[in-house]
Amino acid sequence: MSFRIVDFYSVRNLVFGMNAIEELGERAKQYGRYALIITDKVLEKIGTVDKAVDSLKKADVKVEIFDECEAEPRLEIYERAKDVARELKPEMIIGVGGGSNMDVSKVSAALATNEGDAIDYILPIPKEHEVEPRRLKARRLPLILVPTTSGTGSEVTRWAVVTVRGKKWDFKGNVQFLCDNAIVDPMLASTMPPKLTVSTGIDALSHAIEAVMSNSANFMSLPYSLKAIELISKYLRRAYVDGDDLEARYYMSMAATYAGVALCNVGVVLAHAIAYTFAAQHKIPHGVSCGIALPYAMEYNLPLIQDKLAKIGEAMGVEGGGNQRSKAKLAIAAVYNLLKDLGMPTSLREVGIGKNEIPSMIEDLLTVHTYLYPNNPRKVEEEPIRELYERMWEGRILESS
Ligand SMILES: [Fe+2]
Repeated sequence: MSFRIVDFYSVRNLVFGMNAIEELGERAKQYGRYALIITDKVLEKIGTVDKAVDSLKKADVKVEIFDECEAEPRLEIYERAKDVARELKPEMIIGVGGGSNMDVSKVSAALATNEGDAIDYILPIPKEHEVEPRRLKARRLPLILVPTTSGTGSEVTRWAVVTVRGKKWDFKGNVQFLCDNAIVDPMLASTMPPKLTVSTGIDALSHAIEAVMSNSANFMSLPYSLKAIELISKYLRRAYVDGDDLEARYYMSMAATYAGVALCNVGVVLAHAIAYTFAAQHKIPHGVSCGIALPYAMEYNLPLIQDKLAKIGEAMGVEGGGNQRSKAKLAIAAVYNLLKDLGMPTSLREVGIGKNEIPSMIEDLLTVHTYLYPNNPRKVEEEPIRELYERMWEGRILESS
């Protein structure tokens, strides 16, 4: 029995429900009368940003908009958003969008009141940027986050991801990145096209499953993880097949929030680390890269966490299986089958990655992205990892275990 001390982090206020965006103005005006919305041009075009602006105007909150965010945002976007926030001096930052926009909003809110550039706060990048990240000294601007996808859970986490010279990297996690108000409106996510629905949904599944596999999983995080796994298994196929299925959208938003809370407190392990070794270089959406890696990371860990994988299977509604080992294998097969049902790739080969790239991906995993998997239950070692990559390239799962 372990009596270790458990830390639990959460946002100060979560507003969840259909049309919750209408609450934005009332929540915002407690911080002042002048807001900077950080978002992207697509969300402006489809009218999502208008909904936020309408609610703010009703509450007499003046609005400026920074709409230059992009998927997997580059460092340049972070620097530009920070410059705009410093120049305009808003009383609050409101992030509207998927994980990328929300991550840029978190960093902008922090850097509007702190010195230095965004790059100063990123974890050291081996061979490129060896210095330790600066510490945020001053309190950030008030921060409201409004997710428009159901996946990243960024609205309830203390993490932010950045692309630097073609590779994914992380800002040093910070409680200042936890927002003051997360406003989760499943109606906003209901405009996602099928591909975005599945890639963001599988990202959430990966957060939840990795948070179970992690050695840091604890009595506070596990209920969030397992509930997310249950809801995603029940509703992601429905949200994919029929985007107007509002019940499915509602529960997928709930699932992403649950998974985000688990992610915030436990972090990820091997699947996200593997995904980082090829996603940015090949411009593969984050959730798609996590989906490719997830069943292989589960299989890699299987010898040490059969009981945990069996629990994941139970949450997914998998029946039968006999002993723990076979139940664990059924859970891995259930994840793999879910990916297939959603029309997602399940091998590196399918997304156009060459077999000759395996050595450099392994080198990245073992030297650059090590900070992502200190809590992976099985030690990450070159030989078994090479075997994992070779099978992941071909799409061979559950053959020898
Ligand atoms: Fe993720």
